[in-house]
Amino acid sequence: MKFSISTAKVTETKSSCLILPIFEDGQLNKAPKLIDAANGGIITDFRRNGDIKGKVGQCRILPIQNKPYKRVVLVGCGKYEEYSESQYKKAMTSALKKLTSTNHKSATSFLAVGHKSNKKVDYRSARIMAEVWHQISYEYTATNSKKAKRFDLIRLSFGTNGRKRNPEMKKGLSHGNAIGSAIQKVRYLGDLPANVCTPSFLVKEARKIASKHSKVSLKVVNEPEMKKLKMGALLSVTAGSVEPSRLIILSYQGGKSKQKPIAIVGKGVTFDSGGISIKSGHKMDEMKFDMCGGAAAIGILQAVADLGLPINVMSIVPACENLPSGNATKPGDIVTSMSGQTIEVLNTDAEGRLILADALTYCQRFKPKLIIDMATLTGACIVALGHHLSGLMSNSDDLANKLLAAGEAAGDGTWRLPLGKKYMHQLKSNFADVGNISGGGGGAGTVTAACFLQKFVNDIEWAHLDIAGVAWLEGSNKGATGRPVALMSEFLIQEANKL
Ligand code: BES
Ligand code: MN
Ligand code: ZN
Repeated sequence: MKFSISTAKVTETKSSCLILPIFEDGQLNKAPKLIDAANGGIITDFRRNGDIKGKVGQCRILPIQNKPYKRVVLVGCGKYEEYSESQYKKAMTSALKKLTSTNHKSATSFLAVGHKSNKKVDYRSARIMAEVWHQISYEYTATNSKKAKRFDLIRLSFGTNGRKRNPEMKKGLSHGNAIGSAIQKVRYLGDLPANVCTPSFLVKEARKIASKHSKVSLKVVNEPEMKKLKMGALLSVTAGSVEPSRLIILSYQGGKSKQKPIAIVGKGVTFDSGGISIKSGHKMDEMKFDMCGGAAAIGILQAVADLGLPINVMSIVPACENLPSGNATKPGDIVTSMSGQTIEVLNTDAEGRLILADALTYCQRFKPKLIIDMATLTGACIVALGHHLSGLMSNSDDLANKLLAAGEAAGDGTWRLPLGKKYMHQLKSNFADVGNISGGGGGAGTVTAACFLQKFVNDIEWAHLDIAGVAWLEGSNKGATGRPVALMSEFLIQEANKL
């Protein structure tokens, strides 16, 4: 897709389709009003007859004669007074979906996130337009015999209706393009089956990013090296699997070399059978998505590099499978983590926290300014928050508030859950420094999992995102969502803006 800015007046726009907003109440906006006047009141007539009422996402295409544009796409934006970014997003989604069912090659949008145009509105409008395009044009075909659709629509312009272009518009388009592509990549990696998307496959994907960007470098730790590093927790999870495990470290240096990096750690379990504490067969196929945190860490780094943010970021992905075998770790086995703490593996299905423990310890050698980990960690998080919000736990109110705000702004929300001594106490083991689950029950599975991770972060500012409920959809829409790339990109852009 070619994204561009069109500064022509709406009535002189040479584009096959003009996308125009219609509100449920009140008058026509400037652009539709001009088009209405230039075409004998065609929109007014359409509205009067109830052909379009303006409900969010409602969409109608009108043919036009003898004008530089061939069609007008009217899209409902809801009530004028209630208009917000989320309505804009819905309207844009519906207009672009509609256009993909036609043969039109180009479209120019005259929608904006707000009623008054200013730089921020220009930036957000352009950015969301590009993001939405990536969202609706994603199609998984990697393992199907059918070929990927070819979209006729090849140019999408941000129309200014005669206003001068400004750098925020261009920035919005390029940011939306970078974030949208990263989300597509994460969805693709998530959707791939576990016999394709192995730890080594994730390494290859990471390598592609490193070879494309001069500021990105890749380091891969293999199993013999993990042994030398004494990563007993990570090795205990991969023990039952034939497929070799990898620890992926992708670094982006966009800031000064002495600037401390932000460390992003993502759970990369490419298939989670539960190990000896094996899961039931029901929906076990969905455990191919258990690497979505790791894929997001890779995708976010790609987005940051594409955006060229002036910060340093590292993505650390412990990647392995969790399978039963004669070599597999057994419930009750005790392993020694890289931190030196011993862990009683009470349940081999609580494996994500084990691989994250060693990754969290390892990442501290880079003296990170802060650490954010993302993991499809607990089914309990789905019980608590469903599929709407991810769980957020942090040892820092400041970091937690920033992430809450970034999630809200990106439409990729989170909800904070507590940490604390009482929960930490549930992890007590009679035979090791810590158990990998709460031995005596007590509930709060999402919080105790986070407490376990906290034992490996020391005093560093840290946040944990439990994305078990949001990383993929189930049922007939089964597929990876790319969350929380939008949230994390928003957070990192904010961090960069502060500098
Ligand atoms: N990857 C799962 C968590 C999960 C389950 C995410 C279902 C999404 C859907 C994780 O490794 C796991 O198995 N967690 C256990 C922990 C339990 C043994 C304490 C769980 O949630 O059941
Ligand atoms: Mn598990
Ligand atoms: Zn898991």
